[in-house]
Amino acid sequence: MSRPDPKILTRHFGEERLHELETYRRLGGYEGLRQALSLGREKIRAEVAKSNLRGLGGAGFSAGLKWSTVPPEEKNPGPRFVVANCDESEPGCFKDRVLVDRAPHQLLEGLLIAAYAIDARHAFIFIRGEYAVQYRILEKALAQAEAAGLAGRDVLGSGFFCRVSLMRGAGAYISGLDTALLETMEGKRAWPRQPPPFPTAFGLMGRPTVVHNVETLSMLPHIALRGGEWFAGLGTAKSGGTALFSVSGHVERPGVYEFPMGTPLREVIAAAGGVRAGRKLKAVIPGGVSTPVLTAEEIDVAMDFEGPRAKGSFLGAGGVIVLDDTTDMAAVAHNIERFFCHESCGQCTPCREGSYWHERILQRGLEGGGTAEDLATLSRVGENIAGKVICALGDTVGVVTRAMMKKFPEDFKARFPESRG
Ligand SMILES: Cc1cc2nc3c(=O)[nH]c(=O)nc-3n(C[C@H](O)[C@H](O)[C@H](O)COP(=O)(O)O)c2cc1C
Ligand code: SF4
Repeated sequence: MSRPDPKILTRHFGEERLHELETYRRLGGYEGLRQALSLGREKIRAEVAKSNLRGLGGAGFSAGLKWSTVPPEEKNPGPRFVVANCDESEPGCFKDRVLVDRAPHQLLEGLLIAAYAIDARHAFIFIRGEYAVQYRILEKALAQAEAAGLAGRDVLGSGFFCRVSLMRGAGAYISGLDTALLETMEGKRAWPRQPPPFPTAFGLMGRPTVVHNVETLSMLPHIALRGGEWFAGLGTAKSGGTALFSVSGHVERPGVYEFPMGTPLREVIAAAGGVRAGRKLKAVIPGGVSTPVLTAEEIDVAMDFEGPRAKGSFLGAGGVIVLDDTTDMAAVAHNIERFFCHESCGQCTPCREGSYWHERILQRGLEGGGTAEDLATLSRVGENIAGKVICALGDTVGVVTRAMMKKFPEDFKARFPESRG
């Protein structure tokens, strides 16, 4: 049976000047914001709750549920904020960059809807420092939106006031984690906070703050216009709508592809032209380097927040990395652990030292000095990190390597033999 092929976020990507306000509005842009303003706060929140929209920054937390944890004004009077997380630093993920490149107004519109829904008068877009071009695109789009009365004072003549500010990061992967991002925005070192409290209760400057990924926010205009039920119906029982997949690695056509939630991974890979040069598929990292690897036999998995989990992995932020039969998984594990070691903020000893041990031991294997005992050490060190650290970066250290060791033991045996003759 052929599946429906709805495109939500990328539907108008064929339009060359979609980044311009005029084109965006001609195609119905900012009508979702108008609709949200006319529905009122409660109703738009109810539509988002109905939509089964899950956070597309990696954790998959329900957007409706997150909004419901923002304390009402009477219980916690004072400012509240919305932050668009455009830090996108997970290797294998590049969909937020494409969303900003092609449809910056879609993001701004979603941001304003979220701000309206939780009664925030100040919204931010935090963008990674390396995305200099995208920063300029957003600067221009914001100026256009302000000049047209879509952001700032009296949004669309509704009386709603929302100032939007752009902030640039300084190149740390960890500042994409919401609590570290808030620290960075406050001008401090990007050290994750230990929740609770969560940002919706104690966020930017200690005020209630909703942090959302760029893709999550970009969905909101469409939910406002077409309703939560429509959106939920496009996906699976627990993951509404569509998702963007950044497909890279050994495929013919790397790029960003939009599919309904629950689409088999096999179809996503096929859309990218399949494995390069007719080679054989060896493995797929389904959601960015923090997500455990799948084998070639596991690619019929449904790509929603439940599917990869049933196989011991995660949907993450949809960064699909395809690896063909020329790949040495021990080298891939080393590459990933080296990244974690470099990006660990150093607050927690198990993460700081454990990631360093992984990097060094795997390096020794690649240089020809590894033994089977090293593999046991890697497992022991790795199993003693998760749950003993502040954030999910530390929880991930070693997990990726152990999945690779389990699923591709031959690659590790070759680097870490029982005896060196
Ligand atoms: C180490 C680490 C890095 C992260 N980096 C990002 C990021 O670059 N962009 C992002 O949207 N979320 C990132 N997240 C997830 C955020 O902490 C947070 O869950 C997300 O921004 C919430 O938005 P959502 O509900 O729309 O997914 C990261 C999480 C971790 C543990
Ligand atoms: S787990 Fe790692 S990255 Fe997270 S706070 Fe601790 S040291 Fe920093």
